[in-house]
Amino acid sequence: MAIRDGRLNKGPTKSFLILNSSISFDKRLAPYDIKGSIAYARALKRASIIDEKEESRLIKGLEQILNEIQEGRFVFREEDEDVHMNIERRLFEIIGETALKLHTGRSRNEQIVLDERLYLIDLTSSVIKKLKGILESLYTLAEKNLYTIIPSYTHMQQAQLISISHLFIAYYTALMRDLNRLKDYEKRLKVMPMGSGAVAGSTIGIDRKFFLEELGFEELSRNSIDAVSTRDFITEFLFISSLIFVTLSRISEDLIIYSTKEFGYIELPDELTTTSSLMPQKKNPDSLELIRGKSSKTISNLNSILILMKGLPYSYNRDLQEDKPGLFETADNLNVCLDVMKEIFESVKINRDRIEEAIKNSNGFFYATDMADYLVKKGMPFREAHKIVGRIVQDALKKGADLSKISLEEYKSYTPLFDSDIYSIFDPMTSVNAHNVYGGTAINRIKEVLKEIKTELNSL
Ligand code: ARG
Repeated sequence: MAIRDGRLNKGPTKSFLILNSSISFDKRLAPYDIKGSIAYARALKRASIIDEKEESRLIKGLEQILNEIQEGRFVFREEDEDVHMNIERRLFEIIGETALKLHTGRSRNEQIVLDERLYLIDLTSSVIKKLKGILESLYTLAEKNLYTIIPSYTHMQQAQLISISHLFIAYYTALMRDLNRLKDYEKRLKVMPMGSGAVAGSTIGIDRKFFLEELGFEELSRNSIDAVSTRDFITEFLFISSLIFVTLSRISEDLIIYSTKEFGYIELPDELTTTSSLMPQKKNPDSLELIRGKSSKTISNLNSILILMKGLPYSYNRDLQEDKPGLFETADNLNVCLDVMKEIFESVKINRDRIEEAIKNSNGFFYATDMADYLVKKGMPFREAHKIVGRIVQDALKKGADLSKISLEEYKSYTPLFDSDIYSIFDPMTSVNAHNVYGGTAINRIKEVLKEIKTELNSL
């Protein structure tokens, strides 16, 4: 009962058989294909195309196949092309003639879209869960380390002092946006294609609405051509995954830098590092490097599908088969990297001593902006204050002096606006708390945001 037997007289050449077959990768969709076929058997019965006995035979056969697949007993055959035909072939072996009725009024063009959407519905909900887990560990990290003050960086140069929680909340904010993106995407994902036929719509009076609840969809595809043509729902997943990976990659980069001997702000546990085969002293942050590395494939998979789609005429073209390997690769990378990232956040050690040391060794330069603000408060225009403090820093650099150790007399030589209260700015907490604006690093402002985050996480 090979589908070629009617229209074609000859089997594929050896090399075309290899090219034509997608079973090596689309077998992953088998459970969804079976789920869709069971629903389709029910719909056929409702449309009186098959009777109750046939319906139950079809369903039993399909359930047996699912069993065989789950137990690893199912033999996928290359010559059966794809996941749909492998299952159909096996169904015939198990239940005989009735199997030939299952595909009535159905096309693989809609079937593959159904399978992919069902697969993505599951995947998206598991990615959302994993993201939520990461967000919770970031919340915990931020809450625990509220009073740990670290340098912030712009242009990778030491900038102003912040609470380390502020940085963790930055990571949180980006990943929460991605979680919300996925939730919004779910609306567009849960569009049910069955009944579209090959391109023009089903001819057998199938009740399309029946599939909605049966398979967990929210609405029906509105146009049968679009339903079998579009891969927006895959592209969008790959886009959101790329955004997640860009964030994970940047976080990795931060943590890699902070874990170097030169910084020493953080340390990863042994379980998330490797050592060198040559240099016995090494503890390498490979977990972070691999997350950063995997992001490149995710971005290229997004690029690939856009390139795959851009020249295709409406509606189904076989090129579309190539939408899967990149999707699966991204899904696997995303799943494992989200797990590892969570483990990193749960176990990262923050070396407060090293951080304090770094701040102490900065000759008070972290307080340069605070000093300019001080002069502004005394009535000086900001640009002038900026210039004077710039001079002070330059002179201090020449002398190797610490800003907090410069005498009041010397300060006064720059401007008489300086007074003995200038020394009160040289305090990490005072500096942090000066950023007293919603979204700023002042401790109370972070507390305010942590409260919001907690409510937000509880309502997920
Ligand atoms: N394996 C195909 C795919 O992944 C399924 C649909 C095939 N349809 C067809 N008319 N050949 O796109």
